[in-house]
Amino acid sequence: MEDVDDDERGSAGGGFAARLRQETAEAHGAAESAPFMAELLSGQLAPEALTTFLAQVHQLYAVLEPAVDALRHDAVVALFADDDLRRLPAVSADLQAHLGAGWREHLVPLPATEAYAARLRQVAAWPAGLVAHHYLRYLGDLSGGQVVRRLLARAYGWPEEQLRSWDFPAVPSPKRYRDRYRAALDAAPWDEAERDRVVEEARRGYRLNEELFADLGRQLPAWRR
Ligand code: HEM
Repeated sequence: MEDVDDDERGSAGGGFAARLRQETAEAHGAAESAPFMAELLSGQLAPEALTTFLAQVHQLYAVLEPAVDALRHDAVVALFADDDLRRLPAVSADLQAHLGAGWREHLVPLPATEAYAARLRQVAAWPAGLVAHHYLRYLGDLSGGQVVRRLLARAYGWPEEQLRSWDFPAVPSPKRYRDRYRAALDAAPWDEAERDRVVEEARRGYRLNEELFADLGRQLPAWRR
C-alpha cells in the first residue's frame, strides 16, 4: 500500500482526467468533510458505524459491478472494466468478518443508498455515465480509500481481514494504477459535450455520496461511545 503522493494532488496535466479532477474538487471536498467520516476515522464510534456504512457500499457495488459486466463489450467501458478492481467480494468478506453468518440481514438501504442505487441503474445503459460512477468509486478506493483503511486500522485495531474493502491484492501499486486509469480517461473518445456530461455525472455522484454520509450522520448520536 502506498501513500497518496503530494505531487499527484498538484498534477496540472492538460487532459480530460485533470479537468475531471479539477472540476469535481469542490464536490469531493464537500463529501470528504462529512462529520460521519471524520468521527469514524478518529475512532469515536461503535463498530456498527462501519458495518452500516459497508452495508450501504455493498448495495452500491451490487448494482455497479453487474452494470459494468453487462457493458464490457462496449469499447469505452472495456478501457476501465477490470476484475482486479471488484469490491463486492471484499466488502462481503468484511461484513461477514464483522457480523458473522447473518451479515446479509444488515443489507438494509438508507434512503440515500436507494437514491444512489437508483441513479446507478439509470446510467447503466450509458457507457460514459457508468464510467463516471466507476471513476468515483474505484479511483476513490484507490486514493483516499487507502488513507481510510490505514486510519481505521490505527483507530480501532481491526485486522486486515476486516478491512479488505480498501485492499486491492491484485493492484501492487495504486499510484501506477491511478496513472494508467487517468490515461484511459484522457483516451476515451468523448466529444466536448459528452465530457461535460461526464463531469456533471461525477459531480452528481459526489452529491449522492454526500447525502449518504448525511444519512449515516443522523445515526451518529447512537454510535458515539
Ligand atoms: C473521508 C472521506 C475521504 C477522504 C479522506 C478522501 C481522500 C482523498 C485523497 C487524499 C485523495 C487523493 C488526493 C486528491 O485528489 O486530492 C482522493 C482522491 C479521490 N477521491 Fe477521495 N476522499 C474521501 C471521500 C471520497 C468519496 C466519498 C468519493 C466518491 C465516492 C471519493 C472519490 C475520490 C476520487 C474519484 C479521487 C481521485 C480524484 C482524481 O485524481 O481524479 N473520495 N480522496
